[in-house]
Amino acid sequence: MADGKWYKEMCVYHIWPRSFCDGNGDGIGDLWGVLQKLDYIRSLGADAIWFSPIYPSPNADFGYDISDYKNIHPDYGNLDVFRELLGEAHKRGMRVFLDLVMNHSSDEHPWFQESRKSRDNPYHDYYYWRPGKTVRGRLIPPNNWTSHFEGGAWEYDEKLGEYYLHLFARKQPDLNMENPRVRQEFKEIMRFWLDMGVDGFREDVVTFIAKTPGLPNSYPWLPAINGLEHFSNLPRVHDYLMEFKKDVLDHYDCFTVGESPNTTAETALRYIAEGPDQVLDEMIAFSYMEADCILTDMIPRPFSLRKLKRAMSDWQEKLEGKAWNALYIENHDHSRVISRYGSEQYRVESGKMLAAMYMLQRGTPFIYQGQEIGMTNLRLPSVELYPDVSTQNAARIASHVLPRGQVLKLIQRAARDNARSPMQWSAEPNAGFSKAEPWFAVNVNYPEINVADQEQDPNSLLNFYRKLIRFRKDNPVALYGTYREHDRKNRKLYVYERAYEGTRLLVICSFTADQVRFDAPEGIKLDKARQVLGNYEVNFVIANGFTTRPYELRVYLIENEVRNEEK
Ligand code: GLC
Ligand code: CA
Repeated sequence: MADGKWYKEMCVYHIWPRSFCDGNGDGIGDLWGVLQKLDYIRSLGADAIWFSPIYPSPNADFGYDISDYKNIHPDYGNLDVFRELLGEAHKRGMRVFLDLVMNHSSDEHPWFQESRKSRDNPYHDYYYWRPGKTVRGRLIPPNNWTSHFEGGAWEYDEKLGEYYLHLFARKQPDLNMENPRVRQEFKEIMRFWLDMGVDGFREDVVTFIAKTPGLPNSYPWLPAINGLEHFSNLPRVHDYLMEFKKDVLDHYDCFTVGESPNTTAETALRYIAEGPDQVLDEMIAFSYMEADCILTDMIPRPFSLRKLKRAMSDWQEKLEGKAWNALYIENHDHSRVISRYGSEQYRVESGKMLAAMYMLQRGTPFIYQGQEIGMTNLRLPSVELYPDVSTQNAARIASHVLPRGQVLKLIQRAARDNARSPMQWSAEPNAGFSKAEPWFAVNVNYPEINVADQEQDPNSLLNFYRKLIRFRKDNPVALYGTYREHDRKNRKLYVYERAYEGTRLLVICSFTADQVRFDAPEGIKLDKARQVLGNYEVNFVIANGFTTRPYELRVYLIENEVRNEEK
């Protein structure tokens, strides 16, 4: 229903600041660069920007290890530039969301530095410090949990004689949210930014912020991921989020989207179902990015359209009338979607198809920088050239079971770094990203794939994104229509329908270069429908169906049926 909540009609542009645009010529993206590109972002039709972390950070996990929550990384600018950016974004009608990482800080954060000084330091209990266990004369960690990025989840501190918990990299110690002082710190951090004019937060791995008291051993259900049942979606997560909402967020007109690994649509509803228990506006579905892998991108499988459809329809159907979806097909944690779910050979066709496929569903679309021009995966010649900590971890694990060449292939396919190469602005040196040598490899295809070229071409992917966003805004059926999938078992076509007040929208997406016969679902007459979007020329339709061309997309609008029938 159209209930006037602004986040339901917005479209969000996601910036990974290090690789977006270098404004001061040191090879690193920054806020000065973003300032130069605000008109570009607005020209897409974006209503908001979400920044991956821009705070001071030693960059063990490129900003997701924060050493000061109330400042800006000097590589990116300072608070004055940020305030200017905020004002300029607002002037253009765009909101600004920050990434809030509450599960862990950097080990270089003063809280952690204090906490490791002594067991009775007032900050000691900000983190999970525990003595180890002695087994047959050997000291072992307090439990068997594993980290996502670097082996076991515990790191020993010689001086203190205790271990600290890190569910991600060693340099990302987990914060103890159980401690009310830690929650107080985060309330102040939220207020600090909201008072400045920030419009909301994307809350990093928010489903992990509570742990089972006593931190018990995990049942080793998967050799490489231990502990999930003790740190994922525990009931206290909801309690903490409710406290943040009541004490802070409710006092501002702001938006929150939770990042939620290991979370089904049912579980998500605990947090986002509209009503008195709602604590977040939206949640990010991980299953969208699992159609060609098992649980993690690093265990690849052939792409399965049915798996993708199941994931998307599941969230569409379960949230219908209850909660609002976050729609995305790319972010900074996954390789490029055209290289995964589409086709590099049919880059523009598949790029347009994928865009309409997800953006015409019910929810708030997020667009990740470079997605709108169809950037593709890098293929760097050696594993060492991929700087991400989780990439290096995956390569280390894979090298136990795979020959070198296969490890490189895996990394080329699945590394998060694929999404982190500099934005391709033009065919000028360094893709127009920077006057200096960029901090990370520019994709060699920038002379063919860049913003400047696509600005000139009315049929470019970039201009298709603009058209699509405009269409979504102009058509309530695209925003508020109900969702219904057709032909679920089809392995090559994704067909769904939206319906709102007598208007229907039929979205037909081919996920193959093969020719596939499409027949309109019962009750739909294509010759009475108007094709409103597509990626090929279409003249007329015969026999209420057609044979698809590679990665073909067609979107039909069937208007005012009720009135027609009444006549
Ligand atoms: C989230 C972020 C990812 C980061 C991790 C740890 O998944 O999206 O980039 O590495 O959390 O903070
Ligand atoms: Ca710079």
